[in-house]
Order: sequence, then structure tokens, then C-alpha cells
Amino acid sequence: MDKMWSGRFSVGASNLLDQFNASIMFDRKLYREDIEGSLAHAAMLTKQGILTTEELRQITDGLNQIMKEIEAGEFEWNIHDEDIHMGIEKRLTALIGDAGKKLHTARSRNDQVAVDFRRYVLRKNLEIADAVKLLMQEMLVVALKHTETLIPGMTHLQHAQPINFGFHLGAYLSMFKRDIERLQSSYERNNISPLGCAALAGTPHNIDREMSAELLGFDSVSVNCLDTVSDRDFALEILFNISTLMMHISRLSEELVMWSSYEFGFIELSDEYSTGSSIMPQKKNPDVPELLRGKTGRVYGSLMGLLTVMKGLPLAYNKDTQEDKEGVFDAVETAEISLEILKEAIKTMQIKAENMQHACKVGHLSATDLADYLVEKCGIAFREAHFITGKAVAKSEELNIDLSDLDLKYLKEIDARINEDVLEYLVLENSMNARTSEGGTASSKTKEQLEYFKTFLEGK
Ligand code: ARG
Repeated sequence: MDKMWSGRFSVGASNLLDQFNASIMFDRKLYREDIEGSLAHAAMLTKQGILTTEELRQITDGLNQIMKEIEAGEFEWNIHDEDIHMGIEKRLTALIGDAGKKLHTARSRNDQVAVDFRRYVLRKNLEIADAVKLLMQEMLVVALKHTETLIPGMTHLQHAQPINFGFHLGAYLSMFKRDIERLQSSYERNNISPLGCAALAGTPHNIDREMSAELLGFDSVSVNCLDTVSDRDFALEILFNISTLMMHISRLSEELVMWSSYEFGFIELSDEYSTGSSIMPQKKNPDVPELLRGKTGRVYGSLMGLLTVMKGLPLAYNKDTQEDKEGVFDAVETAEISLEILKEAIKTMQIKAENMQHACKVGHLSATDLADYLVEKCGIAFREAHFITGKAVAKSEELNIDLSDLDLKYLKEIDARINEDVLEYLVLENSMNARTSEGGTASSKTKEQLEYFKTFLEGK
């Protein structure tokens, strides 16, 4: 019968209930947010004349001492205390006596957990955004070196048009920039204080919510307490943001896996970030990108999990909501290590530029250029030009060569309007560099795009 809420009970909780009900073994991760929240609450209660300055001093000393104990690994975690909030409050009262019992005035665990968890999520939005920036910086280094390196641009995983490798990486830089912006906007939207909402309806005590909000770094206070104590949108948003980030990482990872194969041979991951086989001595496996691809699945699982927990919950706080934390912690930690290892793998991988260029010599990558030539130089309608080019591709296939090597003689046989000036259209570098429209792959345009990402990374 040592529970804080045991007043109305005549028999103590069963051990089984404690095992099932407790969150302290995972929400202890929020100890810092919890102590800071209590410090701000106590300071506000004191300014409002609800606590004396002497009580505030005792509470502050006690909470600082608890922070030290936790950080030194000396704090005794006990599932009978149920959660981080009661664990810390119990220890505080043990340390300072009666003043500790006053801390919970005008507060409930419902607004307390909403403060702690929200502040953890807000911090992680910014930390993950910073980690994405570090990854982008590493990718930018590689991209800037390869704005002239040809690689087959693909659609349907079939050779389509020649592009350069810097442009290819630029596509991922675009995705990661959006991920950063999503994390930042989620931070801005959700930086609102729940403190003072109490259980669900606010409090009759004369509190100053603005003050505690400001002390905790919130931009404003929430508008409706009933919503606030049960709102977990901020947690869903970070799960969605991380899911989308991991989806982008999984796409890049898939390409790294393909590019490391003998069939592609575009890159070689460093020994440091590759693994061997227990039976096949020759193997060098791309476990890192494969695992990144796989970990994307568990992050999606956390998003689906919390959406499902929240579905159909009546107002306001329900214990179901305690299930919000582990999935978020897991997704955050998965994203953190994923970003770190992907950055290192990219930094240390070897780019096999000759193989990329060589791969452009199959698949008739300059076919669109021949069609464009027929339109531009011969005044032929695009649909007809497409058909004529098809004939030229068929001829190249018959001769078992790439269209870029097809002799002028054959081209003229197919259509007499074709002249010698066609040959420069078929050169792969020219094909790539001809695409100078906004956002195009031409080296000059790629450099502009990479400059844009560089400015973005420096600006924030
Ligand atoms: N451990 C709880 C959670 O994580 C804290 C809030 C408990 N509130 C309550 N009324 N039982 O959601």
C-alpha cells in the first residue's frame, strides 16, 4: 500500500499489475525532461505565491540531486513506482520531506507526461535534422567530384538517358532537404506547452502557464486542455517524418546494394563497412545498406502502431496512450544510427567512374537525342522522329552495337534527311550536357543544383 494513489484502495496492487502497468523501465529515458518540467513548475508556483521560496529551494536542491543520482547510475529504478513521474516524486519526498509533497499542486501526470514526451520529440526533430545535414554534406562532397561522370539514367530500371553521377546524388539531396524541412516545421508547429492543463480541465489554482512555458522553451501555451492531455499528433508527426526519411534512405540503400554487385560494379563499399560470408570465402556483402533497407520496415511499424493506438480513443487521457513511447524511442534511435552509418559508408565507398561510363555504352541512351535532332534539324514531327529513331535502334541491335556507334551510312539509309551533324548528337557526353533546362542533368545545371544544396546547408 505504498502507492501515491492508494488512498481509496484497501488492498495493494498485485505484482502482475505492476509488471503490466509500469512504464518506468522505458519512460526513465525522459528523466531530464521530467526534472526540468518540475523545476519550471515549482518556479512558477513560487512566483504565484503557492510555494514559499524556502520550499522552492528544497525542491530545486532535491531535483538537482536526483538528476545527479540518475546520471551517475545510482538511482534505484523500481517498477512499483509505476512511471518516471512518480519515481522521481517519491525520491524527492524521501530526500526533502513535506515540500516534495507540494510539487504536484496544479499538475497531473497527464500534463506532466505530455510536457516530457513532447519536449523529447521536439529535441529529436532538431537533432535528426542536424544528422541529415551531416549526411547531406558527405554526399555533396562526392556529388561535386562527379558532375561529369556519366551514369545511365533509368526508368523502369531500364537504361533511359545519360545523366551524371552528381545529378543522381542530387536527387537524394533533394529528398533529404525535404526531410529536414518536415522535421523543422513539425518542431515549429508543436512547440506548445501542455503544462498547467492538469488532469484534463485546467486548475482552480492561480497559475501562470505562460511563465512555465517560457522557462521550458515553448513558444506558447496550448489552447484547450482537454485536447492537450490526449494529443499525440507531435509523436505521430515525428514517426511519419522518420518513416519518410527512412523510405528515402531505403531507396538509396537499394541502389548501393545494386551498384555493389558484379552486374553493376559502380561502387565498392569499404572493407570497414562490409561483411563476409561464413561459408563463401570470396564474398563481400553490402550488409549496411541491406539493413538500412530492412530497418525502414520497423520504423513504419511504429507509425502504424501509434496510429492504431490513437484510433477511436475517447477524450481525454487514456492509459492506451502510454503505448506511445517505445515505438517513438525505437524509431528515433533507428534513424540516428542509420544516418550515422550511411554517412560513413558513403564517405568511405569507392566510386568506379569507368564502369559507370562504360555502362552508358549499352542500351542506346542517345536515342532521344536522335529524335530531338530529327525534330530540330530536319523539321520532322516528334512522333515521326520517334518512329525513325526506332528503326535506327533496331539496326544497331542487328549489328550488335550501341546507337552512339552506328555509322552515318546506316542512318542515312533509314532517312535521307539525316546529315553528318547528327553524329555530335549521338555522343553521350553531349546528350547529357544538352539537357540545360531548369533542373536538368547538364553538368553546368548540376553544378548549380549542388551549389543550391551547399547554400542550404550553410544557411541553417
Ligand atoms: N505513465 C503514464 C503514461 O506514460 C503517465 C500518465 C499517467 N496518467 C494517468 N492518469 N494514469 O502515459
